[in-house]
Amino acid sequence: MGNEEPERPDWTLGPADAAKLSLCPFSAVEGEAIIRQGDVGSTFFLITAGTVGIRRQVGGSIHELGTLGPGSIVGELAVLRRAPRNATVVALEPVVGFTGDLGAMERLVGHDAAFPERLATVAASRLAEAAEPVEVTLRDGSRVSVRPLLRKDRQRAAEAMSHYSEESRYERFHSAAEASSELLDLLCDVDYANHFVWVAFEGPEESYVGSARFVRLHSDPSVAEMAVGVADEYHGMGMGNILVGALVVAALEMGITHFSAEVLTDNRPMRAILDRLGAEWIEEGFGEASASVLLAAPVALLGASEIRRFRQLVATIVSPTAVFAA
Ligand SMILES: CC(C)(COP(=O)(O)OP(=O)(O)OC[C@H]1O[C@@H](n2cnc3c(N)ncnc32)[C@H](O)[C@@H]1OP(=O)(O)O)[C@@H](O)C(=O)NCCC(=O)NCCS
Repeated sequence: MGNEEPERPDWTLGPADAAKLSLCPFSAVEGEAIIRQGDVGSTFFLITAGTVGIRRQVGGSIHELGTLGPGSIVGELAVLRRAPRNATVVALEPVVGFTGDLGAMERLVGHDAAFPERLATVAASRLAEAAEPVEVTLRDGSRVSVRPLLRKDRQRAAEAMSHYSEESRYERFHSAAEASSELLDLLCDVDYANHFVWVAFEGPEESYVGSARFVRLHSDPSVAEMAVGVADEYHGMGMGNILVGALVVAALEMGITHFSAEVLTDNRPMRAILDRLGAEWIEEGFGEASASVLLAAPVALLGASEIRRFRQLVATIVSPTAVFAA
């Protein structure tokens, strides 16, 4: 959720369905707080009409996190994690919808097969937004922060890619063409389970200096295709090693056992990184090779403290809906 990209509607629920699931109608007048940060809450809210604003207090300052409209869920994190509310939600106009507790959430899971996955994505993206980036040091001593890509990052991702040299674009996408809007949509459509992206930035979060992603295969969920890109002026400073190492950590936390990658045969830096992970190579012809990597803790790419910090960050956003499997 963020100011640049409104969150997509996730639920449409009619009154008949709501009654069947024992959800209660709720309404709020303009200015009324539906949820207050810090409160212990055991209910979630599905908004069917009206708009709410989300704000989080950090220290003495208030951060406006964005707005949500019809089709959105709020308050689900406190229910799933049995934790205090991490933001305040205020009606910006008259708001109506339905509210329920964990029992109602469980009934929704039975009612709509796609509900757990959509709920997991929404919850993970909100947790990713609240997560503290991991700070790492490059070979020249400069500090870089690494965090998961957020939906609101699309514009910055577009800018970062427009700064790639033609050669880098060719090595990354096997084409020198600029990224289309459709490709950018795909690249930013993360769900933190099947499609995960780390982004690295130096100093204030104005522009990215690198990213690494994996996309899980439909045909075999234990395998994911991976790719990485580092801004040209940062090449050779160790960022590729760090981002791929962080990607391995995230993949292992999500139950992925193998990476595959398509690499140009003469892309020596990328081949060097994958070789450090023990890649097996198949030469595909036409200047391309595919790598298969059996994943293990990436000790050849990252120090123990970095591995631990990346693992901790990923653990905070993975499987917020595991409560249903308990
Ligand atoms: C591939 C890429 C991500 C590497 O990022 P990077 O930050 O420059 O990588 P690192 O600094 O971590 O170092 C990569 C390794 O390649 C080695 N390397 C660099 N140039 C090399 C060369 N010409 N020959 C052999 N090894 C080379 C480095 O020495 C380093 O190995 P080391 O850790 O043992 O020292 C970056 O070059 C890039 O973004 N390229 C364009 C996009 C791309 O090719 N993506 C891969 C498609 S999946």
